[in-house]
Amino acid sequence: MKALVVSLPEDADLAKELARRLDAELGEVEIRSFPDDETYVRVDSPVEGRAVIVACTLNRPNQKFLPLIYLAETIRELGAQTIGLAAPYLSYLRQDASFRPGEGLTSRYFGRLISGAFDWLVTVDPHLHRYTNLDEVYSIPSVVVEAAESIAAWIKTEVERPVLVGPDEESYQWVSSVAAAGNFPSFILEKTRHGDYDVAISGRSTPTWSSQQPVIIDDIISTGRTMIEAVRHLSELDLKAPICLGVHGLFVGDAFQVLEEMGVAKIVTCNTVPHSTNAIDVLGPLAEAVAELLE
Ligand code: R5P
Repeated sequence: MKALVVSLPEDADLAKELARRLDAELGEVEIRSFPDDETYVRVDSPVEGRAVIVACTLNRPNQKFLPLIYLAETIRELGAQTIGLAAPYLSYLRQDASFRPGEGLTSRYFGRLISGAFDWLVTVDPHLHRYTNLDEVYSIPSVVVEAAESIAAWIKTEVERPVLVGPDEESYQWVSSVAAAGNFPSFILEKTRHGDYDVAISGRSTPTWSSQQPVIIDDIISTGRTMIEAVRHLSELDLKAPICLGVHGLFVGDAFQVLEEMGVAKIVTCNTVPHSTNAIDVLGPLAEAVAELLE
């Protein structure tokens, strides 16, 4: 029997794409809100004894979380053999330490809740900074798909004389993998975050880079303040207007508009969160990882 792919309504395109790439069946479910905002869930496709994949990219996680868990619980009760979560973007990894007394370690709580509802998890470049791998947070088997090869391939075809720029220490892991995959030069800046919207970037370039096309690479573009300040800093260093490249483009609030108005060369993201900037496909490698898990 073919595997079944289902999703919340907002991830219908993702589910369709994964079902196509996996040669799986696209499941029929109805999920809607009652007038008082409680969630109604009905699974119409037969799931008993089947491998079921829930496609859900975890942007806007608070909004998606309860319907997602209800969907998984319904599928479990209907007798599915296994239930996996294909989440191109995995949220709740940035609070990876308690920085002040009394702070909740939400990454762990989120990991615990997801691990209680699913049998496995596949994602793309999760924000692993203080954690070395997802096993520290998730008790279910997980597979991490790296976007570096796809990003490097895009840069190779689209950018002449690139130099990769990491806006902060954390970006080193992503920048260095893309640099290694494409044999590109790179350098890393320094970031101090004073608040959600208050970021300062510093660091040096060398004269060698002034004729090259900077490509700022970060894993997440959320408020955009890291990118925005990195763009501002590069202009102070007299480098060319950069390409801004994020693996996961959340573009909260005015992030996209502000970046565009700064006159950057291009804004590009991987297709882990639907956005007009999606130019780099990582759903192929994601589907391959899911297929391997199903075997
Ligand atoms: C954290 O340090 C991440 O790697 C990103 O730099 C960060 O999430 C970007 O957030 P924002 O767009 O809000 O500056």
